[in-house]
Amino acid sequence: MKSVKVGIIGCGNISSIYCQAGQKFDVLDIVACADLDYERAKARAEEYGISKVYTVEDLLADPEIELVINLTIPKAHAEVCIAALEAGKHVYVEKPLAVTREDGQRILDIAKEKGLLVGGAPDTFLGGGIQTCRKLIDDGVIGQVVGATGFMMSPGHESWHPAPEFYYQVGGGPMFDMGPYYITAFINLLGPIRRVTGSTRISFPERTITSQPKHGQKIQVEVPTHITGILDFENGAIATLITSFDVAGSNLPNIEVYGSKGTIHVPDPNTFGGPVYLRKHGSREWEEIPLTHGYIDNSRGVGVADMAYALRSGRPHRANGDLAYHVLDVMHGIHDASISGSHYELKSTCEQPKPLPVGLEEYTLDM
Ligand SMILES: NC(=O)c1ccc[n+]([C@@H]2O[C@H](COP(=O)([O-])OP(=O)(O)OC[C@H]3O[C@@H](n4cnc5c(N)ncnc54)[C@H](O)[C@@H]3O)[C@@H](O)[C@H]2O)c1
Repeated sequence: MKSVKVGIIGCGNISSIYCQAGQKFDVLDIVACADLDYERAKARAEEYGISKVYTVEDLLADPEIELVINLTIPKAHAEVCIAALEAGKHVYVEKPLAVTREDGQRILDIAKEKGLLVGGAPDTFLGGGIQTCRKLIDDGVIGQVVGATGFMMSPGHESWHPAPEFYYQVGGGPMFDMGPYYITAFINLLGPIRRVTGSTRISFPERTITSQPKHGQKIQVEVPTHITGILDFENGAIATLITSFDVAGSNLPNIEVYGSKGTIHVPDPNTFGGPVYLRKHGSREWEEIPLTHGYIDNSRGVGVADMAYALRSGRPHRANGDLAYHVLDVMHGIHDASISGSHYELKSTCEQPKPLPVGLEEYTLDM
């Protein structure tokens, strides 16, 4: 199969793992990179043997490039995705798809109009841990699904991150930062969501940075930092999701899924591996379930590799724009519901992504 020529825009922290994916997956051929900061792009190119270092404009003008991976900051996601699509490139973007629903919808509309593909992170749901959970559910091991819980409980990032302000500004907050992992995992396990409600609060309107180099500086908090959501799925399951920057610590699991015949303890959706535990109805013991699928190490990039296969074979890709938009709509919906005091009926939906087949060879996907 002919590889897909890829250009990366945004050469910050997360770009390394995508460059590594380019070396591992034959279907991805990363030929160019660009950043607002040219030196950063140059450094990544040297590190990973990427032949062309560009400005964003020049990268988009290169006819060799078929697909752009957008690894810029969330505030720039929409602008860069739209510029890539306007230049005739398929685009895969880090999470979230965009900051606002309007921008997210524009990305999907332009892609549709131009016959181009949009994909979006996270792709951790393609990892061996969550795929194993999906197989347990699909195989009927926990019977009829009743509901799920998800907990992302943290004290915030000002004690360690060198520049933590953005976590507390519009586009930040625990839901927009970490919610995509949880909600994407939920949709992969349970299907699309019908309606949501929730309550949000800003527990600490002013926070103090204790990391270096900004030690002692104050942050004015603009967005909710403790968010409790209730999600009703189209299949009837009900989930509770808490994302917080306001708790000192917690023993709650990341995700559990409850069925008529048992409970699955799902691994951290910000990782690819296990462990997966099952507790059958009537049993007091948790049993560790051997993982049935590969991609258990940090495999960021498997989602865009899947999209590259889709491009060549014509099949749908799993981490697609409809899924990323549905996740964005759910996150906003939970915040909106807290203000309106009612349920928010989702205006978007998506297909539950097809599970990965068992027994894939390393760094390949199905056609
Ligand atoms: N860092 C992580 O652990 C992590 C994990 C998962 C997902 N992400 C996501 O990855 C994305 C990038 O995160 P990061 O940690 O690499 O951020 P970063 O700040 O380290 O890197 C972002 C890069 O994008 C560049 N950039 C910003 N706007 C641009 C524009 N308009 N055109 C071109 N370049 C532009 C910046 O100069 C910077 O080099 C974010 O969407 C984030 O949510 C990050």
